[in-house]
Amino acid sequence: MSHAEAKIYPPSADAEAKAHVDAAAYERMYSASMSDPEGFWREQGKRVDWMKPFTQVRDVDFTLGNVKINWYADGELNVSANCIDRHLEKRGDQTAIIWEPDSPDEAAKHITYKELHAETCRMANILRDLGVTKGDRVIIYMPMIPEAAYAMLACARIGAIHSIVFAGFSPDALAARVNGSEAKVVITADFAPRGGKATPLKANADKALKNCDASVKCLVVRRTGGDVAWDDARDRDYTALAKNAATTCAPEPMNAEDPLFILYTSGSTGLPKGVVHSTGGYLVYAAMTHEITFDYHDGDIYWCTADVGWVTGHSYIVYGPLANGATTLMFEGVPTYPDASRFWQVCEKHKVNQFYTAPTAIRALMGQGREFAEKADLSSLRILGTVGEPINPEAWNWYNEVIGGGRCPIVDTWWQTETGGHLMTPLPGAHATKPGAAMKPFFGIKPVVLEPTTGEEITTNPAEGVLCIADSWPGQMRTVWGDHARFEQTYFSDYKDYYFTGDGCKRDADGDYWITGRVDDVINVSGHRMGTAEVESALVAHDKVAEAAVVGYSHDIKGQGIYCYVTLMNGEEPSDALRTELRNWVRTEIGPIASPDMIQWAPGLPKTRSGKIMRRVLRKIAENDFGALGDTSTLADPSVVDELIANRMNR
Ligand code: WTA
Repeated sequence: MSHAEAKIYPPSADAEAKAHVDAAAYERMYSASMSDPEGFWREQGKRVDWMKPFTQVRDVDFTLGNVKINWYADGELNVSANCIDRHLEKRGDQTAIIWEPDSPDEAAKHITYKELHAETCRMANILRDLGVTKGDRVIIYMPMIPEAAYAMLACARIGAIHSIVFAGFSPDALAARVNGSEAKVVITADFAPRGGKATPLKANADKALKNCDASVKCLVVRRTGGDVAWDDARDRDYTALAKNAATTCAPEPMNAEDPLFILYTSGSTGLPKGVVHSTGGYLVYAAMTHEITFDYHDGDIYWCTADVGWVTGHSYIVYGPLANGATTLMFEGVPTYPDASRFWQVCEKHKVNQFYTAPTAIRALMGQGREFAEKADLSSLRILGTVGEPINPEAWNWYNEVIGGGRCPIVDTWWQTETGGHLMTPLPGAHATKPGAAMKPFFGIKPVVLEPTTGEEITTNPAEGVLCIADSWPGQMRTVWGDHARFEQTYFSDYKDYYFTGDGCKRDADGDYWITGRVDDVINVSGHRMGTAEVESALVAHDKVAEAAVVGYSHDIKGQGIYCYVTLMNGEEPSDALRTELRNWVRTEIGPIASPDMIQWAPGLPKTRSGKIMRRVLRKIAENDFGALGDTSTLADPSVVDELIANRMNR
């Protein structure tokens, strides 16, 4: 089905009547944000409480060599005070966080704003006692437990910069981030229960810290109470210390442009880079998008199923919702434990109104059959959301019919770690939706579709090309930690004066946007972003591997799978045992999410005469679509292609 024939679902009268932003308001606000960005964002800046009000709104330059992004630059605020303290008077006894544990047999917790305040202050005081001060970095390597949110907010409270490392990452990946950010403290837990199993987080941290500076301290939350090794000089027991820690701690005034957090993310080249987000602009943008995209109203129960290890967890489990005084649900487990009805049981149990998840989860649950969803009462649901990768119409339709009962608008939110918040999405009461389309730019966002080779802007519809953004928004990343030149090079060098997203897109005849996926060497596996270069460097670090090339290929559930072409060292024999060994090796180097799906032995890789691997050819072979490989005449040895085709794995 072509996009032109896509079915269109207009917003329901109910959704429109209730929405913060209806169609007319969207038009009015969007054009105001374009014609007078200064005035528009000055007004939106009032969403947060300032300790010292800003007078400047924006100071932005996208020129290569001179890139700067500043918002509200002379204002001062504290993110934790905005997410907690300012709500205490009106909603101190309202639930801030509902915590749903991995096992349905364990009791859920309801943490009020008052309790959140006390717990965050305890954690902040403990961090201060460990010597953490403003500007210091703290690594958070935690399960999805309330203490993860306390840790984030505690860092924000004392002006420390947190960097969360997803609990599924390996000790090596953790060590790289501790060292890359020169962190003073790692906050972790004894174990991370997930899907009935428990990852030994503290043991992983022990391994990682062997490769870090001896002064790094380790603060350990007792989640399961299971046995862990202990180093008295380095390790501190959070659960014991918290009992005696003071429950007040004055929030540190921070400049709007002070970094709030670093989050490492994959790019098309090299190792993951530390994306730096600001304090003021980030919070304004996270709060605004959370309220408007999900049409959040006071009293709603909102659930985003992401992990705080990813940007979605930062902006849409913690910072956006709490800045808005929302009730946000935090889930420790997985969609299929104890069985494929878990998500829907949790929706029923906590009467969830807004539900936000990834297409890969929808596809996996769809594959288990609709009975699992039909067992649950889903009548509380009002808005559904997706994020992380393009959603195929089949999954969209299932989500719409089986989960939403045909009455819940679906917001397909396109954004990135770099963008801090949603850049494109339909708004529930303003826009029609089309299965698979991100539809409309958010306020202040000016998407441009460029012809990939010339960089010319395509101004007519329909259009297809690479997606850039023409101007800044407050949630935009500010720099790459410790490497501003890499920041400029990565995002501002391909297309002059634009932020280059790395995504391809189509704009249909109606002017609606469809994200078509990455145009660079970033792949999206189960909604997790990964650089093929990272997997390649893990593979070649194995002493039996001479060379490796990694590409993505279409995968029914994961969206993309990881396909590796491996050339062995002279004298090494390919075997299934070696395949398993390499797979395990990558899991240890990066983490289980980077586990190769297919490993093809490649006696040679298709290279140009200048030695560049022709990845386009490898992608086609991995897709089992080698009929039209394009021009291979520039290859140094075209016969390697026939060999690779003959031995392809994905038939
Ligand atoms: C992809 C996740 C299509 C895209 C918030 C982007 C999407 C990358 C969508 C960023 C969507 C995210 N439709 N593709 N709704 N949302 N993507 O940094 O390729 O983990 O560049 O941020 O995910 O992934 P990241």
